[in-house]
Amino acid sequence: METMDDVYTKKMQNTYEDEEERKHFQRIVSAFKYYKPHSLQRVKKTESYLLSLPTHHQKLLTKYREHLQDVKMCIENNDEIIKLIIKDVSHIFENVNPSSEQNESTLNPRPVLADQEKVQATIKQLVRDWSVEGTDERNACYQPIIDEIIQLFPDDICTPAEIQVLVPGAGLGRLAYEIAKRGYTCQGNEFSLFMLFASHFVLNKCRGVNSYKVHPWVHQYMNNLEAGHQTQAIFFPDVNPSDLPENAQFSMTAGDFLEVYTDDNHWDCVATCFFIDCANNVVQFIETIYKILKPGGVWINLGPLLYHFSDMPSEDSIEPSYEVVRQVILGFGFQIETEETRVKTRYAQNINSMLQCEYNSVYFVCRKPRRQTSSPDHRNGADGNGIQE
Ligand SMILES: C[S@@+](CC[C@H](N)C(=O)[O-])C[C@H]1O[C@@H](n2cnc3c(N)ncnc32)[C@H](O)[C@@H]1O
Repeated sequence: METMDDVYTKKMQNTYEDEEERKHFQRIVSAFKYYKPHSLQRVKKTESYLLSLPTHHQKLLTKYREHLQDVKMCIENNDEIIKLIIKDVSHIFENVNPSSEQNESTLNPRPVLADQEKVQATIKQLVRDWSVEGTDERNACYQPIIDEIIQLFPDDICTPAEIQVLVPGAGLGRLAYEIAKRGYTCQGNEFSLFMLFASHFVLNKCRGVNSYKVHPWVHQYMNNLEAGHQTQAIFFPDVNPSDLPENAQFSMTAGDFLEVYTDDNHWDCVATCFFIDCANNVVQFIETIYKILKPGGVWINLGPLLYHFSDMPSEDSIEPSYEVVRQVILGFGFQIETEETRVKTRYAQNINSMLQCEYNSVYFVCRKPRRQTSSPDHRNGADGNGIQE
C-alpha cells in the first residue's frame, strides 16, 4: 500500500526548477499569509462606516456591530487553519525546495485581489469535498461518476487494482479518493497550488473525523437570512482521509494536465468533473484525453461549460457550445455511450444564502474504440444524432 504520507509521491519533480515557478510558489504562500490582514481590512471598513452613522442608527444596529465582532473571530479561526495548510508546504514537492531562505527574504509580493478570492474559494472547497454539509453536492457531482466506474469495471469481471483511473483537475481530491477507496488505482492531478496545498493538508496531515473547523461563508456579506449563516462553522474532514483499504493505490500529481500526461494509451478511465471548461482550448483537453486512454478506455464527464478564461483580457479562450463540443468528441473518434443534459449540480454553494446558483450540467460517458478505423482528423464529427436529453 502507498501510505497516505506518500500520497504526493508521484509529483512533478522539475516543476519548480526555474525562478518563475519559485516566484509563483512564493506568491501563493504570500496570498495565504495575507488572508487575515486582507479579510480584517474588509470588516474594519464596514465598522468605521458604522461608527460614522447617526447615533440613533448605531443604536438600532447594536446586534449588527456585535455580529461584525463574530466575523472577525471567524477570520481569526480560518487563519489558524491556513497556518496549518501552509506549514511545511515547501516540502510537498520532491527534490525541490521552492521557498528557500533566499526566496523568503527576497520575495514578498504584494497581495493580488484575485489570489485572495482563490484563498476564500479554497476554504469553500473544503466544504464541497470534505464536510458533511457537502454531501448533497458530492452525491450530485461525484456519485454518478463513481457508480459508472463500478458498473463499467465490476470486481467480478476485473481486478479493480489493475484499472487505472485518472482524475484531472482533482481539486481537493475527494473524487479521486473515493475511486481509490473502491479498490481502483486512482491518480488525481491538479495544477493550482491553492488546491494542492489544501489537499496535501487534508490527505496527508488531517487525522480523525471532523477535527478542524472553518467558517466558509464569512466573506459573504450579502444575502444572509440570519447573521449566524455568515459565521457558520463547518467541520472537516467528514471521513478519516487515511481510511483507505490496505491495498489502495492513490496518488496525486502536481502540474498541468496537458504537460504531465504525455504517454499514449495508458489509462482505462479518465474521470472529469467540472473540469473541461478550464481549458483555453477545450479541443486540446479532449484530444489529450483521447490520446492517453487505452483503446477501449472510457472518459466519464460531468459539469457545465463555464469557460474559465472567457472574457479574461490577458487570456485566450474559445467557448464552443455543448453541441459543438459533442461534435469535437465524435470527431476524435469517441463513441458516446451515455449522455444526459440538464443534470442539476451545484458548486461550493452556501445552501442558506438567499442567492443560489445551480448548473444544468452535462453528463456523458464515451469510449475510445478498441480498434481505430481512420485517422480522427478525417472524421467529420457528426453521427447524425442530436444531443440526448
Ligand atoms: C472547477 S474546479 C473542479 C475541481 C473538482 N473536480 C471538483 O469538482 O470539485 C477545476 C479544477 O481544475 C484545475 N485545473 C484547471 N486546469 C488544469 C490543468 N490544465 N491541469 C491540472 N489542473 C487543472 C483547477 O485548478 C481547479 O482546481
